[in-house]
Amino acid sequence: MAKLSITDLDLANKRVFMRVDFNVPLDENFVISDDTRIRAALPTIQYALQHGAKLILASHLGRPKGKPDAKFSLRPAAKRLSELLGTEVRLAPAAIGEATQAMAEALHAGDVLMLENLRFHAGEEKNDPEFARQLAQLADLYVNDAFGTAHRAHASTEGITHFVAQSAAGLLMEKELRYMGAALEKPERPFVVILGGAKVSDKIAVIENLLKSADAILIGGAMAYTFLKAQGVETGRSLVEDDKLDLAKDLWQRAKEKGVELLLPTDNLVVDESFWQAGNQSFEFHLCSVKDIKANEAGLDIGAASIETFSAKIKAARTVVWNGPMGMFERPPFDKGTRAIAEAVASSGALTIVGGGDSVAAVSEAGVATRITHISTGGGASLEFLAGDKLPGVEALNDKT
Ligand code: 3PG
Repeated sequence: MAKLSITDLDLANKRVFMRVDFNVPLDENFVISDDTRIRAALPTIQYALQHGAKLILASHLGRPKGKPDAKFSLRPAAKRLSELLGTEVRLAPAAIGEATQAMAEALHAGDVLMLENLRFHAGEEKNDPEFARQLAQLADLYVNDAFGTAHRAHASTEGITHFVAQSAAGLLMEKELRYMGAALEKPERPFVVILGGAKVSDKIAVIENLLKSADAILIGGAMAYTFLKAQGVETGRSLVEDDKLDLAKDLWQRAKEKGVELLLPTDNLVVDESFWQAGNQSFEFHLCSVKDIKANEAGLDIGAASIETFSAKIKAARTVVWNGPMGMFERPPFDKGTRAIAEAVASSGALTIVGGGDSVAAVSEAGVATRITHISTGGGASLEFLAGDKLPGVEALNDKT
């Protein structure tokens, strides 16, 4: 059942509580180093303002553990949003309380008020009904545009919906659900999924769910070594989850039975102990077959042959979903595989969806972001969605009637 949309609401002169995900990275001077999530919410914010809403924005930032902590203030986000909107965005001193209530009640149509970090209150993550009720009393209507936080059943994503007249999805939320939902439900084939990152354990549910719909799953990153070891390959000091070897074997078998091609790297860049010594400033690395990894070596990136095989699969695809880097992306030269995959995804001509911090960073740094169909603002949320899980922040919204 489709969810109620912000476009179904009568916003004129209503106080609208909009949950956004402004959990953005800040540098050491508290300057936002990547404002993608703020920009991604702009269409919904502008839509609300153009339709005469009195807008109250709410978000978390970081994990301040239920207490105010100046380093997690949303002030930089309010400032950045002011610049982007070209209008004043006032910051309330707290998410709830008398002063905040008064500021909300004083809003005029077209005004924007941002609440201070929701996670300065323990009630947020506990989904405390009393905290949710106090948030709800700031507004008449509720809109959730925070796809990145939709996998959390918190007071501002789930609890609040029990205390407001109408709860609707924002435009970003709708866009994320539309792209990812279509990829899972009716992908144009071949449907190729690329998974990477350190741990198999983070992606088990995703692999299991995608075995239902993918034609091929390409596995890179350290998680590939658990699969390789499960195949009897000697992986040396590469990162392996030994307690997941049986599971990797089982997934391999199930993929075979379902006719899903599971591709692993055939070559890789390896380092020896010099990498971990002397602050690993100068170290040796070389390209070799995954079959030739020595006991003192560890694989840190996919190699040239794997890049070629993976890229050919990606270029033949009509739908591509990518989550997770192919190697130790943050440490050149081990960023090469991830960058090459970013280029292959961008030039595939397929419908392409990229999620997860490192793969999103890779497409930006490779300068190909504009050639990706949809870049998800969700890390954990996009993984849970791909795993087929229901997202509490979406489930809680009203159905369209
Ligand atoms: C994210 O960055 O993935 C979301 O904002 C959720 O943050 P959290 O993992 O701290 O709940």
